[in-house]
Amino acid sequence: MERTLVLLKPDCVQRRLMGKIISRFEDKGLNIIAAKFMHVTPDLAKQHYAEHVEKPFYPGLEAFITGAPVMAMVIEGLEVIRVVRDILGATSGLKAAAGTIRGDFSSSRQMNLVHASDGPEASAREIALYFKPDEICEYEPTLTPWLKAGDE
Ligand code: CMP
Repeated sequence: MERTLVLLKPDCVQRRLMGKIISRFEDKGLNIIAAKFMHVTPDLAKQHYAEHVEKPFYPGLEAFITGAPVMAMVIEGLEVIRVVRDILGATSGLKAAAGTIRGDFSSSRQMNLVHASDGPEASAREIALYFKPDEICEYEPTLTPWLKAGDE
């Protein structure tokens, strides 16, 4: 089992798309094991987007991500880091394939609705930035035997 950090970004919250987007993860059979509605502070934004802080688009990205609340979640599942990024689609909503979240709901590079960790190291780092260990509610879904075979 893998875990990934997912943020429903301020545009997702403001556009009232949270329910639809959470449904896509639930419909796929993924397991939400932590969730928190919160404001991202400028300090947290700089830690989260450390690799982008020096880029020309960073000031706009910080203003965007701190401009309204986000819904932070930890999602668990087999190969979940790749699976969630496939569900999101390419970074820019203009390039994302139809059928992906960004392809269906976004027409922007910055306002792309959802963030998800891009690898195991980022996932561990980002989950620790947004959640304390006791905020993660691991459980065994009763539906598991109907979602995958025992040897998967
Ligand atoms: P995300 O997956 O959260 O990771 C970094 C974010 O920076 C990305 O989604 C976009 O919202 C944003 N981003 C990436 N590239 C650009 C860009 N060239 N201009 C503006 N925003 C960008």
